[in-house]
Amino acid sequence: AMSEVVVVGSFNVDHVWRVASLPQAGATLGGDYASGPGGKGFNQAMAARRAGANTRFVCALGDDAGAQLARALCAADGIALAAQPSESPTGTAGIYVDAAGRNCIVVGAGANAALDAGFAAAHVGDGGAPTVVLAQLESPVEAIAMAMQAGRDAGATVILNPAPANAAVPGATLELAHILTPNETEFAALLGRHVGERIEPEALSQLDQQRLHAHCRALGHDSTVIVTLGGSGCFVSHPEGQLRGDTVACYRVPIEPTQVVDTTGAGDAFNGALAASLALLPARAFAEHVRFAVRYASRSTELAGAALSMPRMAAC
Ligand code: RIB
Repeated sequence: AMSEVVVVGSFNVDHVWRVASLPQAGATLGGDYASGPGGKGFNQAMAARRAGANTRFVCALGDDAGAQLARALCAADGIALAAQPSESPTGTAGIYVDAAGRNCIVVGAGANAALDAGFAAAHVGDGGAPTVVLAQLESPVEAIAMAMQAGRDAGATVILNPAPANAAVPGATLELAHILTPNETEFAALLGRHVGERIEPEALSQLDQQRLHAHCRALGHDSTVIVTLGGSGCFVSHPEGQLRGDTVACYRVPIEPTQVVDTTGAGDAFNGALAASLALLPARAFAEHVRFAVRYASRSTELAGAALSMPRMAAC
């Protein structure tokens, strides 16, 4: 059977203003405006597709121009789409990006909040048994959990990108993931909520490997945890005896310096590329997949925008 990545998650129309510095309360600023497709789910689907994988995207859309955009883009890039119709408007995001490429984001979930658990689980198998199922937390957690369970039942590798950081997720849902991919903010939030450990996100990249590994093991139990660390690359931690082809249980993967224009969607690029590499090259050691995902994500920051900043760069 052909390998396939199934991404379950959000589609948003992003409204983006580039500003000199991010606004403070009460401020009125001028900025250059652009709009384009986004949403963590769609960004990840686009990355998986442009990294060369057969890709299916399961989401909820309204009945409006945003939904037409989603359909047209899926058709143009060859992403199979399973969209649940909703009476709510298609999701939106307001994004400010500063001169250093940093952002802050407000999401109007709209139709994404209506994604039904039964719909999501049923459509995970539309293309036969998926190789990889990839989900995030911009959709109802019940739907995400059911889709992850459906992925497990079909024998897929299940990846949960527990983003955004303020999304609450039950421990039982985390445990459905074979691979967890928080960034440092999300990792600190998960450690606080699920392990009772308080750590500043900024302090994480400074921790020595064994400390970081111990935190990952406390959170992940049986799952591989990859903490993405922005410009510091990422940290990989495997459970004892489940090294996924690696020779060591934990290690850092550095990033090559690039001309950063816009980091919006960089985490999504990482997740989509990781999923594609796992699906396309199953015999590879895990570290090879992670190295590809880091390179892919770093390339995505050289272009402005979210979904449309995903490079066409096949896993190889
Ligand atoms: O991860 C980036 C994405 O977060 C943006 O595209 C925006 O839509 C929000 O969902």
